[in-house]
Amino acid sequence: MEINRSKGTKINDVDFNSVRFGEIFTDHMFECNFKDGEWESPLIKPYSSLKLDPSTHVFHYGQAIFEGMKAYKDKDNQVWLFRPKDNYERLKKSCIRMHIPVLPEEYFFEGLNKLVSIDKEWVPNKLGSSMYIRPFVFSSSVMLAASPSIDYKFLIICSPGGAYYSKSLSVYVENKFSRAAPGGAGYAKAAGNYGASFYPISIAESKGFDQVLWTDSESHQKIEEVGTMSIVFRLGDKLVTPKTSDTILDGVTRKSVIQIAKDLGIEVQERDITVKELISEYHNGNLKEIFGCGTAAVIAPISSFGYKEDKFELEEINNSYADRIRLSILNIQQNLSDDPHGWRHRIKD
Ligand code: COI
Repeated sequence: MEINRSKGTKINDVDFNSVRFGEIFTDHMFECNFKDGEWESPLIKPYSSLKLDPSTHVFHYGQAIFEGMKAYKDKDNQVWLFRPKDNYERLKKSCIRMHIPVLPEEYFFEGLNKLVSIDKEWVPNKLGSSMYIRPFVFSSSVMLAASPSIDYKFLIICSPGGAYYSKSLSVYVENKFSRAAPGGAGYAKAAGNYGASFYPISIAESKGFDQVLWTDSESHQKIEEVGTMSIVFRLGDKLVTPKTSDTILDGVTRKSVIQIAKDLGIEVQERDITVKELISEYHNGNLKEIFGCGTAAVIAPISSFGYKEDKFELEEINNSYADRIRLSILNIQQNLSDDPHGWRHRIKD
């Protein structure tokens, strides 16, 4: 792999106490191009703008997917990734669904390790902070024919930052728009899934909510996800989360939450949960907690939800499952506890 180092660093211009999610980027980026039917040799180069023709395929047909990962620094300045193999496996599934050639595993891991190691200084060492890593692929042929692109670009960029959400969320149960439909691309991290969600989210925001609680496209009764995250409910002493399907993303944090909850002795049910059940459990006092989980936010507590004209506020709870599970996951991610499931991946210098 070719490595072309930047002449200087931008790091001294950054106030790490005030950076928000995804607003500043490190000194380097990884790039690999697919041309003439194969992935060319990858390179790491200074972070810079791309020069793209206006007819570049992705602008017109949106053949693009991405991943989200995080790097953490421990007290010995050692840098760790969390379950990167799971991200690669999902990236493969997303590529296949969007008819994008899959970057070879060794290119992905070599590029990721080298990039994070070169930009190691950018990984914050403050508890709760991390460096977000965004691998993504897009169709880069210069063509307007509505057929699969011939060329692709695979990039990895990195962005240090703090929490994704600063407060608990209020969510609106969507009963008109859908994030995904059976047979669609909902299980893939396809860029268009996110783009298409912004309009319904803006409507929820205009009603005073922060995010949308997505429901199935047919009946709008079965709950699927929340915003860009997986959704988890605490009913009594059990956690309930919808099982993955072709409309539900196989979240790495979701899987981790399920495993950690089980490790803590909490029963987890992966099953359908309807809006009707949610409201009935709310009224009988059994709905104790709701939270979203994803790479960016880790765990985002939800304090209220709206359905049609009604709003339902949850009571605050001490020693919540969300807090306990978040702490266990963060402790593993930041190398503050044992790693019984082998989820940590050390970045070698
Ligand atoms: C995640 O948290 O996994 C995400 O995909 C969030 C990202 C869209 C900002």
